[in-house]
Amino acid sequence: MEAEAPRQINYLRMSITDRCQLRCVYCTYWREWEKQPPAEILRYEELLRLAAVAAEAGVRKVRVTGGEPLLRRGLMGFLQELKRLPGINQVCLTTNGALLRELAPALYNTGVRHLNVSLDTLKQDRYRQITGSDNLPAVMAGLERAASLGFHPLKINCVVLRGINDDEVLDIARLARERPLQVRFIELMPTTSRTWWQRHFLSMTEVRQRLAVLGPLEPLAREAAAGPARTFRLPGFRGELGFISPMSEHHCRTCNRLRLSSDGKIRPCLLGSQELDLKEPLRQGGSDGFIGFLFQEAIRLKHRKTGHSLACSGSCFRDLPMVSIGG
Ligand code: 5AD
Repeated sequence: MEAEAPRQINYLRMSITDRCQLRCVYCTYWREWEKQPPAEILRYEELLRLAAVAAEAGVRKVRVTGGEPLLRRGLMGFLQELKRLPGINQVCLTTNGALLRELAPALYNTGVRHLNVSLDTLKQDRYRQITGSDNLPAVMAGLERAASLGFHPLKINCVVLRGINDDEVLDIARLARERPLQVRFIELMPTTSRTWWQRHFLSMTEVRQRLAVLGPLEPLAREAAAGPARTFRLPGFRGELGFISPMSEHHCRTCNRLRLSSDGKIRPCLLGSQELDLKEPLRQGGSDGFIGFLFQEAIRLKHRKTGHSLACSGSCFRDLPMVSIGG
C-alpha cells in the first residue's frame, strides 16, 4: 500500500436549518419531505459550542449551509460569534441567493467574505422548473449586490442537468467574464430516483468540451484547502471556472470535511450512511470532552473510509436528506 500523509480534517459544514423557499428537483422536490419540528434543530448556542469543540479537534474552516441559512432569524449575530471563535479562521456561507439582495450588507458587516450562491439557470421558466419558484430576478440582483460589496471569493454553484440546463453552460460560464467571481459546474449526484439521475446526469468532461469555444482553460494551482473543484482561468475573463466531479472522478482521498446536519448529526461522508448524534449528548449534559471524543470518532471513521464507491450506474440515495445536510 502506498503511504500517504494523513489528511487534516479541518473543514466543517454546518447546516443550520432545514427550511428552504425552493423545492429544487434534485433536492426536496420529489420526496415526501417535512421539515423537522423546531426543537429538533440545534440552537445557535449549541452550534457555537460544537464549533468550539470542532476547533479544538483541528477544524479551521466552517461553512454555514441549510436548507437556506438566510431564512434563519438571528443569523448575523451567530456568524459574528462564529468568526470570533479561537481557531476558526474562515467562515463561509452557501445560499440560494433569494434573500441576498436585502441581506448582503448585513452579511458583509459580520465579516463573512466567502460566499457561494446556487444558480442553475439564467432563464425564468427554467428556474421555475428547477426550483419551483420565481426568485431568479432576486438571485441575480443579490449576486450583483454581493459582487459590488466586495464579497470574495464569490462563487456560483451550477448543477448541470442534461436536457434541462445543459444548453446554458456557456452563458453561465460567461458570468465570470466581466465579474471577478468563480462559476463552478457540479455533476449531479444520485439523490433522486435512479432513472431521473440517469436521464439528467452529464459528466464534467462533456461540460468542458462544450466550453472549449471560450478558449483554452488554464489550470490554476490547487491550494491546500481548495476543496474538490478543479479551477481554471480563461483568456479575457476576470473570474474563474471550476469543475466538481463527485461522480466521474471522486475526491474522497483528499476530502477534508465533516458535515453537521441541522438536527445535530455528524456525517463523515455525504454519501455514506454513517452518522453520529451530537444533539443528545449536547442536551443531556455531555461534557465538552465527551463531545470532542465523538468528534474525533467521526474523524476516525472518515480516515477508515477510502471512497464512497458510487459507480455511475450505482446506487441512488433516495433517503439522503440534502436539505438538512446542506449539500
Ligand atoms: N447533486 C449535485 N449537487 C447538489 N447540490 C444539492 N443537491 C445536489 C445533487 N444531487 C448542491 C446545490 C448547492 C450545494 C450546496 O449543493 O446546488 O449549490
